[in-house]
Amino acid sequence: MSSYPDFRPRRLRRTAAMRRAFAETSLLPSDLVAPLFVKEGIDEPVPVASMPGQSQHTLESLLKESREIVERGVAGLLVFGIPAFKDEGGSESFNPDGIVQGALRTLKDEFGDDVLLIADLCLCEYTSHGHCGVLSGQTIDNDATLDVYRRIAVSQAEAGADIIAPSGMMDGQVGAIRSALDAGHSERAILAYAAKYASSFYGPFRDAGEGAPQFGDRRSYQEDPPNVDEALREVALDIAEGADAVMVKPAIGYLDVLRAVKERFRYPTAAYNVSGEYSMLMAAAERGWIDERAATLETLTAIRRAGADLVITYHAKKAAEWLT
Ligand code: PBG
Repeated sequence: MSSYPDFRPRRLRRTAAMRRAFAETSLLPSDLVAPLFVKEGIDEPVPVASMPGQSQHTLESLLKESREIVERGVAGLLVFGIPAFKDEGGSESFNPDGIVQGALRTLKDEFGDDVLLIADLCLCEYTSHGHCGVLSGQTIDNDATLDVYRRIAVSQAEAGADIIAPSGMMDGQVGAIRSALDAGHSERAILAYAAKYASSFYGPFRDAGEGAPQFGDRRSYQEDPPNVDEALREVALDIAEGADAVMVKPAIGYLDVLRAVKERFRYPTAAYNVSGEYSMLMAAAERGWIDERAATLETLTAIRRAGADLVITYHAKKAAEWLT
């Protein structure tokens, strides 16, 4: 490579057309997945105070919001259900007539195969204690939880989910769900929340999903933020158990993990731009401290640049509009 003054890097930055032509990373609506919350027993959508622009939806408002998102060319919808009734075992999670199953059926009827229907599979929104698994005393019983996850997976597949996304971080969850799905739903895919960290950036989600733990925390099952080798082991296990795609979560604080996962495995890889990351940006934008549009597109591009094929983000609807 020659050096200045023969080589002038600014030549390729001079105009927008020049920058577009040499951009190394693309960002399209089809790279984005929109998370959505649907709540049982409400008549009107309830805005989530800590997540400007996001609501807990009724089935009707979910459908309306989804239409607007799908029209903009977003790749997928990630659906979370909030049941009217919670118990110790989270039994509403696998009710064939439960809130998330009803939502999946409604969305499948409406959109067919035009958009990916992704079902988050976890127990925290469904248990009275808010943990992602069933309890044995004060500890989370891993293997008993897997039996419940199998039932949830089958109920979500029957309701029309194209992709099941287990987020509870139980050991063996991908293998358990894969074998349950293989009895009749072998064509349904698994997007594994493989490297999901015990992060403080899920705070606003816990308002939206109403799944905050009622005692303790999630550090015995979600990953420890200092670790990256551990994330690679988690991803290797999930791939060995049959994951079709893997996820790193959160995104912004974990771009190094995302890059390591993509480079090591060359596997379809998603990143979850989580609630706290969204709320920070939106709060600063509301105060006029940053430009929402520029900051959002820069953030999503950075996540793509680090290695994400898909970005799960609450910005999906607006970003898709800006990108088209
Ligand atoms: C668990 C789940 C959580 C999120 C997605 N799935 C919460 C948690 O682990 O406490 C967080 C998503 C976000 O913060 O946007 N079902």
